[in-house]
Amino acid sequence: MGLHIGIIMDGNGRWAQARGLARTQGHREGLKVAKQIVKAASDMKIGFLTLYVFSTENWKRTADEIGFIMGLVRQYLKSDFNFCRENHIRVRHAGDLSRLPPDIAKDIADVCRDTESFTGMQVILALNYGGRDEIVRAVNRALAGTSAKEKEIEINETVIAGHLDNPDIPDPDLIIRTAGELRTSNFLLWESAYSEYYISKKLWPDWSDADLAEAIENFQKRERRYGGAYAVSDREYHHE
Ligand code: IPE
Ligand code: IPE
Ligand code: MG
Repeated sequence: MGLHIGIIMDGNGRWAQARGLARTQGHREGLKVAKQIVKAASDMKIGFLTLYVFSTENWKRTADEIGFIMGLVRQYLKSDFNFCRENHIRVRHAGDLSRLPPDIAKDIADVCRDTESFTGMQVILALNYGGRDEIVRAVNRALAGTSAKEKEIEINETVIAGHLDNPDIPDPDLIIRTAGELRTSNFLLWESAYSEYYISKKLWPDWSDADLAEAIENFQKRERRYGGAYAVSDREYHHE
């Protein structure tokens, strides 16, 4: 399995404001960059790419901005099947589908099903995603899956990890955040326990393939100890 990279694609609004444009224009540009980075990551043989598209907290924005972002998501989901087929990309979802507009929830379910057999990079769209929300849903799924008699099952790390949105996907190795903020904003809280962070000052619409390559190069120089006292072997390090 290849590397798992997560990206907090931040700074669309600031990019637009700096140009005297509406925030929505930043999101339009951000989508273009996202498509380009998906292609670059696939060409670099990255195993999994999780993109933070819309958080459970982003509903606090204006109806106009939310509507525009959902429109871009609709457009992306409808137009990119050929691209996925050509690049063998499997699309998946993380987050709560039940609270998304029903047509988008259906489009996501469709694209996940239609690309299920593709064996290249997996792109996980974190859409209506919140790390705390995912953990709460995982615990509830674990409890719902047990009979009344077994209700006293022990909730341990294995049980929670096994009921996350995509339990088969390895934890992210590297989490990139653009636009300079030093916080997780509720992204992959459980899964990022030992992820390496890389913060880029550049705004997301200014990101390019070279920035991704630089982030990966920086990551590859790090020593991951997982709480241990000395370096672990390269083999564990790459989830192989
Ligand atoms: C990230 O860009 C995109 C989403 C959160 C949907 P922002 O819209 O947060 O851009 P800034 O942070 O306001 O610049
Ligand atoms: C995180 O960015 C969410 C996404 C990129 C989808 P935000 O812009 O929502 O995060 P805060 O508000 O700066 O923490
Ligand atoms: Mg932001």
